[in-house]
Amino acid sequence: MPNKPKVLVTRLLPPEVEARLQRDYDVELNPTDQLYDTETLLAKAEGADALLILPSESMSAEVIQRLPESVKIVATFSVGFEHIDREAAKQRGVIFSNTPEVLNDCTADIAMMLLLATARRGHECEAVLRAGGWTGMAPTWMLGTKVTGRRLGIVGMGRIGQATAKRARGFDMEIHYHNRTRLPADLEQGAIYHANANEMLPVCDFLSMHCPLSAETKHWLNAERIARLPDGAIVVNTARGPVIDEAALIAALQSGKLGGAGLDVFEREPQVPAELIAMKNVFLMPHMGSATLETRNAMGFRCCDNIDAYFAGQEPPNRIT
Ligand code: DGY
Repeated sequence: MPNKPKVLVTRLLPPEVEARLQRDYDVELNPTDQLYDTETLLAKAEGADALLILPSESMSAEVIQRLPESVKIVATFSVGFEHIDREAAKQRGVIFSNTPEVLNDCTADIAMMLLLATARRGHECEAVLRAGGWTGMAPTWMLGTKVTGRRLGIVGMGRIGQATAKRARGFDMEIHYHNRTRLPADLEQGAIYHANANEMLPVCDFLSMHCPLSAETKHWLNAERIARLPDGAIVVNTARGPVIDEAALIAALQSGKLGGAGLDVFEREPQVPAELIAMKNVFLMPHMGSATLETRNAMGFRCCDNIDAYFAGQEPPNRIT
Protein backbone atom coordinates (compact mmCIF):
# COMPACT_ATOMS: atom_id res chain seq x y z
CA MET A 1 0.00 0.00 0.00
CA PRO A 2 1.53 3.38 -0.95
CA ASN A 3 2.08 6.15 1.55
CA LYS A 4 2.64 3.96 4.56
CA PRO A 5 4.65 5.89 7.17
CA LYS A 6 8.35 5.11 7.05
CA VAL A 7 9.80 3.54 10.22
CA LEU A 8 13.52 3.09 10.84
CA VAL A 9 14.32 0.26 13.28
CA THR A 10 17.82 0.48 14.69
CA ARG A 11 18.26 -3.09 16.02
CA LEU A 12 17.29 -6.63 15.15
CA LEU A 13 13.92 -7.37 16.83
CA PRO A 14 12.00 -10.63 17.47
CA PRO A 15 10.44 -12.00 14.24
CA GLU A 16 6.82 -11.39 15.25
CA VAL A 17 7.55 -7.76 16.02
CA GLU A 18 9.35 -7.24 12.71
CA ALA A 19 6.49 -8.98 10.88
CA ARG A 20 3.95 -6.60 12.41
CA LEU A 21 6.07 -3.59 11.50
CA GLN A 22 6.52 -4.87 7.94
CA ARG A 23 2.77 -5.42 7.65
CA ASP A 24 1.88 -1.90 8.76
CA TYR A 25 4.76 0.32 7.70
CA ASP A 26 7.39 1.02 5.09
CA VAL A 27 10.08 -0.27 7.43
CA GLU A 28 13.87 -0.35 7.31
CA LEU A 29 15.14 -3.14 9.55
CA ASN A 30 18.65 -3.93 10.75
CA PRO A 31 19.04 -7.66 10.03
CA THR A 32 22.72 -7.79 10.99
CA ASP A 33 22.09 -5.93 14.28
CA GLN A 34 25.22 -3.83 13.76
CA LEU A 35 25.31 -0.80 16.06
CA TYR A 36 24.77 2.52 14.28
CA ASP A 37 27.00 5.40 15.29
CA THR A 38 25.31 8.78 15.52
CA GLU A 39 26.17 9.89 11.99
CA THR A 40 24.90 6.63 10.48
CA LEU A 41 21.73 6.84 12.54
CA LEU A 42 21.05 10.43 11.49
CA ALA A 43 21.71 9.62 7.84
CA LYS A 44 19.38 6.61 7.97
CA ALA A 45 16.71 8.66 9.76
CA GLU A 46 16.51 11.05 6.80
CA GLY A 47 12.94 10.81 5.46
CA ALA A 48 11.76 8.48 8.25
CA ASP A 49 8.49 9.37 9.99
CA ALA A 50 9.22 7.27 13.07
CA LEU A 51 12.21 5.65 14.74
CA LEU A 52 12.24 2.53 16.86
CA ILE A 53 15.39 2.65 18.97
CA LEU A 54 17.05 1.01 21.97
CA PRO A 55 19.11 2.42 24.85
CA SER A 56 22.15 1.65 22.66
CA GLU A 57 21.18 4.78 20.69
CA SER A 58 21.85 7.91 22.69
CA MET A 59 19.23 10.58 22.15
CA SER A 60 21.23 13.43 23.62
CA ALA A 61 20.14 17.03 23.11
CA GLU A 62 22.59 17.30 20.22
CA VAL A 63 21.26 14.20 18.45
CA ILE A 64 17.63 15.25 19.00
CA GLN A 65 18.32 18.72 17.60
CA ARG A 66 19.86 17.11 14.52
CA LEU A 67 17.01 14.63 13.92
CA PRO A 68 15.52 15.13 10.46
CA GLU A 69 12.30 17.19 10.40
CA SER A 70 10.49 14.15 9.04
CA VAL A 71 10.83 12.30 12.38
CA LYS A 72 7.70 12.81 14.48
CA ILE A 73 7.78 9.94 16.96
CA VAL A 74 10.56 7.85 18.49
CA ALA A 75 9.61 4.64 20.32
CA THR A 76 12.28 3.24 22.61
CA PHE A 77 12.29 -0.53 23.09
CA SER A 78 12.91 -0.14 26.83
CA VAL A 79 11.20 1.04 29.96
CA GLY A 80 14.30 3.04 30.95
CA PHE A 81 14.73 6.37 29.19
CA GLU A 82 17.93 7.79 30.63
CA HIS A 83 19.36 7.75 27.09
CA ILE A 84 16.78 10.36 26.04
CA ASP A 85 17.10 14.07 26.78
CA ARG A 86 13.41 14.66 27.40
CA GLU A 87 13.74 18.45 27.68
CA ALA A 88 15.41 18.61 24.27
CA ALA A 89 12.70 16.35 22.85
CA LYS A 90 9.94 18.61 24.20
CA GLN A 91 11.66 21.70 22.79
CA ARG A 92 12.11 20.02 19.43
CA GLY A 93 8.50 18.76 19.49
CA VAL A 94 9.37 15.07 18.99
CA ILE A 95 7.21 12.53 20.80
CA PHE A 96 9.03 9.72 22.60
CA SER A 97 7.42 6.60 24.07
CA ASN A 98 8.71 3.73 26.21
CA THR A 99 7.57 0.20 27.18
CA PRO A 100 6.43 0.16 30.83
CA GLU A 101 4.74 -2.73 32.66
CA VAL A 102 5.39 -5.55 30.21
CA LEU A 103 8.83 -6.32 31.63
CA ASN A 104 7.97 -6.12 35.34
CA ASP A 105 7.65 -9.85 35.91
CA CYS A 106 10.72 -11.01 34.01
CA THR A 107 12.93 -8.31 35.52
CA ALA A 108 11.69 -9.20 39.01
CA ASP A 109 12.41 -12.86 38.22
CA ILE A 110 16.01 -11.96 37.44
CA ALA A 111 16.27 -9.93 40.66
CA MET A 112 15.18 -13.01 42.64
CA MET A 113 17.48 -15.21 40.62
CA LEU A 114 20.43 -12.94 41.43
CA LEU A 115 19.44 -12.80 45.10
CA LEU A 116 19.14 -16.57 45.41
CA ALA A 117 22.16 -17.38 43.27
CA THR A 118 24.36 -15.00 45.25
CA ALA A 119 23.08 -16.21 48.62
CA ARG A 120 23.53 -19.87 47.69
CA ARG A 121 26.87 -19.44 45.88
CA GLY A 122 25.43 -20.42 42.51
CA HIS A 123 28.37 -19.32 40.41
CA GLU A 124 30.98 -20.90 42.65
CA CYS A 125 29.17 -24.24 42.98
CA GLU A 126 28.48 -24.52 39.29
CA ALA A 127 32.04 -23.66 38.34
CA VAL A 128 33.44 -26.38 40.63
CA LEU A 129 30.98 -28.95 39.30
CA ARG A 130 31.68 -28.12 35.65
CA ALA A 131 35.42 -28.29 36.29
CA GLY A 132 34.99 -31.82 37.65
CA GLY A 133 35.90 -30.73 41.18
CA TRP A 134 32.83 -32.09 42.98
CA THR A 135 33.78 -35.03 45.17
CA GLY A 136 30.39 -35.56 46.80
CA MET A 137 28.17 -33.98 49.41
CA ALA A 138 30.08 -32.71 52.45
CA PRO A 139 28.39 -31.17 55.51
CA THR A 140 30.56 -28.08 55.72
CA TRP A 141 31.36 -27.46 52.07
CA MET A 142 30.10 -24.41 50.10
CA LEU A 143 27.68 -23.20 52.74
CA GLY A 144 25.56 -20.26 51.70
CA THR A 145 23.25 -17.75 53.34
CA LYS A 146 19.66 -18.66 54.22
CA VAL A 147 17.10 -16.45 52.49
CA THR A 148 13.87 -17.49 54.26
CA GLY A 149 12.82 -14.98 56.90
CA ARG A 150 15.59 -12.49 56.09
CA ARG A 151 15.09 -8.77 55.51
CA LEU A 152 15.02 -7.38 51.97
CA GLY A 153 15.34 -3.64 51.35
CA ILE A 154 13.99 -2.36 48.05
CA VAL A 155 15.18 0.99 46.71
CA GLY A 156 12.48 2.28 44.35
CA MET A 157 9.10 0.63 44.92
CA GLY A 158 7.70 1.15 41.44
CA ARG A 159 6.20 -1.64 39.36
CA ILE A 160 9.36 -3.77 39.20
CA GLY A 161 10.17 -3.18 42.87
CA GLN A 162 6.63 -4.30 43.78
CA ALA A 163 6.91 -7.40 41.58
CA THR A 164 10.20 -8.27 43.31
CA ALA A 165 8.60 -7.76 46.74
CA LYS A 166 5.78 -10.11 45.73
CA ARG A 167 8.26 -12.83 44.81
CA ALA A 168 10.34 -12.26 47.95
CA ARG A 169 7.21 -12.64 50.10
CA GLY A 170 6.98 -16.15 48.67
CA PHE A 171 10.31 -16.78 50.38
CA ASP A 172 8.92 -15.38 53.65
CA MET A 173 11.24 -12.40 53.43
CA GLU A 174 10.45 -9.26 55.45
CA ILE A 175 10.11 -6.41 52.96
CA HIS A 176 11.40 -2.90 53.65
CA TYR A 177 11.38 -0.15 51.06
CA HIS A 178 12.56 3.34 50.35
CA ASN A 179 10.64 5.37 47.80
CA ARG A 180 9.94 9.05 47.21
CA THR A 181 6.36 8.49 48.36
CA ARG A 182 4.72 5.87 50.53
CA LEU A 183 2.51 3.40 48.66
CA PRO A 184 -1.14 2.88 49.56
CA ALA A 185 -1.71 -0.14 51.81
CA ASP A 186 -3.06 -2.34 49.00
CA LEU A 187 0.19 -1.94 47.08
CA GLU A 188 2.42 -1.90 50.14
CA GLN A 189 1.16 -5.36 51.16
CA GLY A 190 2.70 -5.08 54.60
CA ALA A 191 6.10 -3.80 53.40
CA ILE A 192 7.74 -1.40 55.86
CA TYR A 193 8.23 2.10 54.46
CA HIS A 194 11.34 4.14 55.24
CA ALA A 195 11.14 7.77 54.15
CA ASN A 196 14.77 8.06 55.20
CA ALA A 197 16.98 5.48 53.43
CA ASN A 198 19.63 5.82 56.14
CA GLU A 199 17.16 4.26 58.58
CA MET A 200 16.41 1.36 56.24
CA LEU A 201 19.95 0.36 55.27
CA PRO A 202 20.99 -1.07 58.69
CA VAL A 203 18.10 -3.59 58.55
CA CYS A 204 18.78 -4.88 55.03
CA ASP A 205 20.29 -8.35 54.88
CA PHE A 206 19.64 -7.99 51.16
CA LEU A 207 19.29 -4.76 49.20
CA SER A 208 17.75 -4.70 45.72
CA MET A 209 17.96 -1.64 43.48
CA HIS A 210 14.86 -0.78 41.43
CA CYS A 211 15.02 3.00 40.94
CA PRO A 212 15.36 4.61 37.50
CA LEU A 213 18.67 6.26 36.67
CA SER A 214 18.55 10.05 36.99
CA ALA A 215 20.81 12.84 38.23
CA GLU A 216 19.38 12.19 41.73
CA THR A 217 19.92 8.41 41.71
CA LYS A 218 23.38 8.30 40.08
CA HIS A 219 25.70 6.57 42.58
CA TRP A 220 22.81 6.38 45.05
CA LEU A 221 24.47 3.37 46.64
CA ASN A 222 27.83 4.89 47.49
CA ALA A 223 30.53 4.06 50.05
CA GLU A 224 28.72 5.95 52.79
CA ARG A 225 25.43 4.10 52.28
CA ILE A 226 27.18 0.73 51.87
CA ALA A 227 28.79 1.35 55.28
CA ARG A 228 25.30 1.56 56.81
CA LEU A 229 24.35 -1.94 55.59
CA PRO A 230 24.85 -4.86 57.98
CA ASP A 231 28.19 -6.63 57.56
CA GLY A 232 27.83 -9.43 55.02
CA ALA A 233 24.78 -7.90 53.29
CA ILE A 234 24.09 -8.91 49.69
CA VAL A 235 23.39 -6.26 47.04
CA VAL A 236 21.30 -6.92 43.92
CA ASN A 237 21.01 -4.60 40.92
CA THR A 238 18.65 -5.05 37.98
CA ALA A 239 17.98 -1.31 37.52
CA ARG A 240 20.86 0.56 35.91
CA GLY A 241 24.57 0.17 36.63
CA PRO A 242 25.26 3.79 37.55
CA VAL A 243 22.76 3.79 40.45
CA ILE A 244 25.61 2.04 42.30
CA ASP A 245 29.09 3.49 42.65
CA GLU A 246 30.80 0.44 41.15
CA ALA A 247 34.22 1.30 42.59
CA ALA A 248 32.71 1.56 46.09
CA LEU A 249 30.86 -1.72 45.57
CA ILE A 250 34.05 -3.50 44.48
CA ALA A 251 35.95 -2.09 47.47
CA ALA A 252 33.21 -3.28 49.86
CA LEU A 253 33.19 -6.76 48.31
CA GLN A 254 36.98 -6.95 48.48
CA SER A 255 37.09 -5.85 52.11
CA GLY A 256 34.39 -8.36 53.10
CA LYS A 257 32.00 -5.61 54.21
CA LEU A 258 29.50 -6.99 51.69
CA GLY A 259 28.85 -10.72 51.52
CA GLY A 260 28.15 -10.73 47.81
CA ALA A 261 26.44 -9.04 44.89
CA GLY A 262 24.11 -10.14 42.12
CA LEU A 263 24.42 -7.80 39.17
CA ASP A 264 22.55 -7.65 35.86
CA VAL A 265 23.68 -4.12 35.04
CA PHE A 266 27.01 -2.27 35.12
CA GLU A 267 28.31 1.26 35.02
CA ARG A 268 29.93 1.05 31.59
CA GLU A 269 28.07 -1.72 29.74
CA PRO A 270 29.11 -3.93 28.09
CA GLN A 271 32.35 -3.54 30.05
CA VAL A 272 32.45 -5.46 33.32
CA PRO A 273 35.31 -4.64 35.71
CA ALA A 274 37.96 -7.37 35.93
CA GLU A 275 37.70 -7.20 39.72
CA LEU A 276 34.06 -8.34 39.57
CA ILE A 277 34.81 -11.10 37.06
CA ALA A 278 37.50 -12.41 39.41
CA MET A 279 35.24 -12.55 42.48
CA LYS A 280 33.59 -15.79 43.50
CA ASN A 281 30.87 -14.18 45.61
CA VAL A 282 29.26 -12.24 42.79
CA PHE A 283 26.72 -13.55 40.31
CA LEU A 284 26.85 -11.69 37.02
CA MET A 285 24.32 -11.46 34.19
CA PRO A 286 24.68 -9.48 30.94
CA HIS A 287 21.62 -7.16 31.30
CA MET A 288 19.03 -9.91 30.83
CA GLY A 289 16.14 -8.57 32.93
CA SER A 290 13.65 -8.44 30.08
CA ALA A 291 15.26 -11.19 27.99
CA THR A 292 12.46 -13.68 27.41
CA LEU A 293 10.78 -14.05 24.03
CA GLU A 294 7.39 -13.29 25.58
CA THR A 295 8.60 -10.05 27.14
CA ARG A 296 10.67 -8.92 24.18
CA ASN A 297 7.64 -9.51 21.94
CA ALA A 298 5.47 -7.53 24.35
CA MET A 299 8.01 -4.69 24.38
CA GLY A 300 8.09 -4.64 20.59
CA PHE A 301 4.29 -4.67 20.35
CA ARG A 302 4.16 -1.81 22.82
CA CYS A 303 6.47 0.19 20.55
CA CYS A 304 4.14 -0.63 17.63
CA ASP A 305 1.07 0.41 19.67
CA ASN A 306 2.62 3.80 20.34
CA ILE A 307 3.64 4.37 16.73
CA ASP A 308 0.22 3.14 15.54
CA ALA A 309 -1.57 5.54 17.90
CA TYR A 310 0.45 8.48 16.65
CA PHE A 311 -0.31 7.77 12.98
CA ALA A 312 -3.99 7.19 13.84
CA GLY A 313 -4.10 10.72 15.27
CA GLN A 314 -4.33 9.44 18.85
CA GLU A 315 -2.25 10.00 21.96
CA PRO A 316 0.52 7.35 22.18
CA PRO A 317 -0.33 5.37 25.35
CA ASN A 318 3.23 5.40 26.72
CA ARG A 319 4.24 8.91 25.78
CA ILE A 320 7.17 10.21 27.85
CA THR A 321 7.76 13.60 26.19
C1 DGY B 1 14.72 -1.54 29.87
O1 DGY B 1 13.68 -1.80 29.26
O2 DGY B 1 14.96 -0.43 30.33
C2 DGY B 1 15.68 -2.67 30.03
O3 DGY B 1 16.62 -2.46 31.00
C3 DGY B 1 16.36 -2.91 28.71
O4 DGY B 1 17.24 -1.87 28.46
